[in-house]
Formats: sequence, structure tokens, C-alpha cells
Amino acid sequence: MSTAEKVVCVTGAAGYIASWLVKVLLQRGYTVKATVRNPSDPKKTQHLLELGGAKERLHIFKGELQEEGSFDSIVDGCEAVFHTASPVFFSASNPEAEIVNPAVEGTLNVLRSCAKVPSIKRVVLTSSMAAVVCNGKPLTSDVVVDETWFSDPAFCKESKLWYVLSKTLAEKAAWDFARENRMDLVVINPGHVIGPLLQSTINLSMEMILNLVNGPVAKFLRKIEMQLHMETYFPAKVHSAPVITERMI
Ligand SMILES: NC(=O)c1ccc[n+]([C@@H]2O[C@H](COP(=O)([O-])OP(=O)(O)OC[C@H]3O[C@@H](n4cnc5c(N)ncnc54)[C@H](OP(=O)(O)O)[C@@H]3O)[C@@H](O)[C@H]2O)c1
Repeated sequence: MSTAEKVVCVTGAAGYIASWLVKVLLQRGYTVKATVRNPSDPKKTQHLLELGGAKERLHIFKGELQEEGSFDSIVDGCEAVFHTASPVFFSASNPEAEIVNPAVEGTLNVLRSCAKVPSIKRVVLTSSMAAVVCNGKPLTSDVVVDETWFSDPAFCKESKLWYVLSKTLAEKAAWDFARENRMDLVVINPGHVIGPLLQSTINLSMEMILNLVNGPVAKFLRKIEMQLHMETYFPAKVHSAPVITERMI
């Protein structure tokens, strides 16, 4: 089968990381079924439609994480599913309803759809270092953080780290579901991701860096003529690397 006949799905495709992932997958010749919450909003779709190969091999669908079964028909016929969609903000008036539940229920909703489709060989979940390191233990120089680490939900709740809690519980739910359903699941746990944006809107991880660059510290550094150097890094290629197994932090 040529890669053009290979169909993959990317959830939350208009997002910062997912847009790069869609770009890489199209470059590699895949047909991509991309889900966004509002397909009629050009701010969410225009940059995707302009990607190389999009005219021929990109299909955009509406995908809302908490609509039970809404991913069934989208993942049907896919070979792999990349689940990146998740609320990425730190505070809300009702954090359980706005951050935690969409992440956890949404992940299970997508995985349940995947489990119904025998053609799906692998599901790749975008988790986070947030789901790894937040357990209250001090990260001293003798401590080795590895793929056995999970953030502690009780610590996250006590510390009101709602985004961290959402990523931790969503990843744990995904591993439980994958084990029970013998699903080939791979989890990517990126740290803070920065680099060029494909979309016209700014996402949180880039906004945080821009705030540093434009904020009081940067103003001070500019005053004393110090230069800031930013490394760019994006994990899109890591997501689609065939050699990864289990948890990649
Ligand atoms: N950026 C980082 O530094 C970083 C680090 C580690 C892990 N991650 C993880 O990487 C993934 C993507 O993050 P990002 O930085 O690319 O953020 P982003 O640009 O804000 O993308 C998040 C995507 O999730 C979608 N989404 C949120 N709630 C949804 C819902 N209820 N139903 C359907 N879609 C929903 C958003 O859809 P709309 O476009 O419709 O709003 C958006 O496309 C997330 O899982 C995040 O936790 C990010």
C-alpha cells in the first residue's frame, strides 16, 4: 500500500503542535483526517488547507471531545490516530468541568472509537511532562526522572494544578484503557514546546515565552544589551517516528 492510501487521524489538528504534525504527515504522503472544533472558522483551518498536499489528502471534520461517539466515523478506516486535543490553559472558574473532564473523558471517548476499528494499528497520545514530574518530591541533582514517574493527582489537587491534573489523569486513563483493550498505545510527554507557529493565533506555551521576551526581565536585559537566544524545538517528527514504544519523555 502506498502512503497516500494510508489514512491517519489527528485530533485537535488546528492546535500548535498538531498543525506541525499534520504538516509532517502530509509531507510523508499520508491522507490525514483532521478534527477541529469549528471547521467553519478560517483561523482554525486556513493554515492547514494551505499546507503542501492538503488539497489532495487533507480532510477536515468537526470533533468535540465530550460528544460521545463523535469520533467513530472519523477514525473509521484509519491506520493510526494521533490524539493531541486537550484543553491547554491553567485556570478556569470551574476547572473540573473546563479542564479536567474534557481531557479525561475526551481521551477515553477517542480511544473507545479507536477500539471499534480493527484497521487502527497504533494510537499516539500527546501527554506532557506535566504528567510526569509533579509529585511534590524535590528535583535535586541525584534524582533521576524516567518513564516510570507519574505526577501525583492528590498533590496536583492540593496545589490547584488543574492542567497538570488533567494531563496526569488523562494519561493514566489511556494506559488503563489500552491495557484492557490490548491497544498499541504510544505516549509522547513533551516539555515546554516552543518554535515557529503555523497558525495565525498564539497558543499558551508560545504566549508564555513571548511574555518573557516582552516582560520586565527582557526589558532589563535589553537595557543592559544582553541578547536572548531561543532554541526552537517541535516534537511533530517524534510523534510520527515508527521506532517509539510505550512512553517517550
Ligand atoms: N505546547 C506545549 O508546550 C505542550 C507541552 C506538553 C504537552 N502539550 C500537549 O500537546 C497538545 C497540544 O497542545 P498545544 O500546545 O498545541 O495547544 P493548543 O494549540 O491550544 O492545541 C490544543 C488543541 O486542543 C483542542 N481542544 C481543546 N479542548 C477541546 C475540546 N473540548 N474538544 C475538541 N478539541 C479541543 C483545541 O481545539 P480548538 O483549536 O478548537 O481550540 C486545540 O486545537 C495538548 O495535549 C497539550 O497538553 C503541549
